[in-house]
Amino acid sequence: MGSLLAISTALLLCFFFQVQGQNRHKEGTSTGNKGCDLFRGSWVLDDSYPLYETAECPFIEKEFDCQNNGRPDRLYLKYRWQPSGCNLPRFNGEDLLRRLRGKSLLFVGDSLSLNQWQSLTCMLHTAVPQAKYASVRTGDLSTFTFPRYDVKVMFSRNAFLVDIVSQSIGRVLKLDSIQAGKFWKGIDVLIFDSWHWWLHVGRKQPWDFIQDRNHTYKDMDRLVAYEKGLKTWAKWVDGNVDSTKTRVFFQGVSPDHSNGTLWGEPEAMFCKGQVRPVRGSVYPGGPHPAELVLERVLRAMSTPVYLLNITTLSQLRKDAHPSVYGHGGHRDMDCSHWCLAGVPDTWNELLYAALIQK
Ligand SMILES: *[C@@H]1O[C@H](CO)[C@@H](O)[C@H](O)[C@H]1NC(C)=O
Ligand SMILES: *[C@@H]1O[C@H](CO)[C@@H](O)[C@H](O)[C@H]1NC(C)=O
Ligand SMILES: *[C@@H]1O[C@H](CO)[C@@H](O)[C@H](O)[C@H]1NC(C)=O
Repeated sequence: MGSLLAISTALLLCFFFQVQGQNRHKEGTSTGNKGCDLFRGSWVLDDSYPLYETAECPFIEKEFDCQNNGRPDRLYLKYRWQPSGCNLPRFNGEDLLRRLRGKSLLFVGDSLSLNQWQSLTCMLHTAVPQAKYASVRTGDLSTFTFPRYDVKVMFSRNAFLVDIVSQSIGRVLKLDSIQAGKFWKGIDVLIFDSWHWWLHVGRKQPWDFIQDRNHTYKDMDRLVAYEKGLKTWAKWVDGNVDSTKTRVFFQGVSPDHSNGTLWGEPEAMFCKGQVRPVRGSVYPGGPHPAELVLERVLRAMSTPVYLLNITTLSQLRKDAHPSVYGHGGHRDMDCSHWCLAGVPDTWNELLYAALIQK
């Protein structure tokens, strides 16, 4: 009898510690925590989502506002990312603003970076709807400010991170030079991204030549060029960022969904009409080739860079692109960007988890 009691007490204690552990997880753990990779998991339905309605976010760009552009289904708004080994902390915008008091956060990258910046500004504004904000755009720099908290959330459009320079021969993509770096100094949190533009050809390709050190090429393997450009960026960060003052993130490669073969629906017309994520935690199409390049470059750096490893979790969301409900409504087929509310909100929940963990 006594030993039974001892066993059940032990079991109770065990249970108690487990619950404690779970609560601690809720307060923010990350890849550093043994057994918990925040980026490995699956999408589950959660009726408390989305985190905001776009009607509450007056400055949202039309191209991301799928519901207003006529998207008829809403199920895609109801998914929450559930890591396999622990829970993500619930996003608390006011807490984040308090922690960032006096600080600046800068997204540098292409329109996927814009997508994430816009998501974060909506998440923060809807968390403190009474707090005044200002949104100013000068050239390629958008600055969103919360004066009460003295916080700046900025976005600098920069598709390649390395330079494009106009020369007598034409526009040259310089794989070994970074002029924009001077604008990245003194920022507290930097979040970079780059990939999609490396693939563009024809009219959408904004350069005529690629220059790598002393050699100029008409074109080269785009993954090779991507790796060379990223290495130049990595060298800049290693040489210029003081990691005791600045936290550096890289938004992992954001996948698009234009080929249904990769998710087991070869007859799919791009991402059109997709209303559900891929089930489970494995994307049938496997890892993204650019993701492997990015991971290789980050591994070789001396500065700690936190990879927001969003590729797989986003690959599972074939349902979350604007498709025909993007820019200007029923015009193009957009299977690259993401509807807001939506997947970039999860990227920001992961960013929040990383920022509050210390
Ligand atoms: C990113 O996530 C994928 C899928 O979970 C994993 O295979 C890969 O190793 C992760 N990369 C890093 C650098 O942790
Ligand atoms: C590259 O060009 C510079 C001068 O323009 C020259 O000094 C250097 O030797 C060249 N390097 C190679 C590898 O050709
Ligand atoms: C779609 O992906 C499959 C598998 O990788 C490939 O064989 C096929 O060529 C791709 N189709 C298109 C249109 O790119």
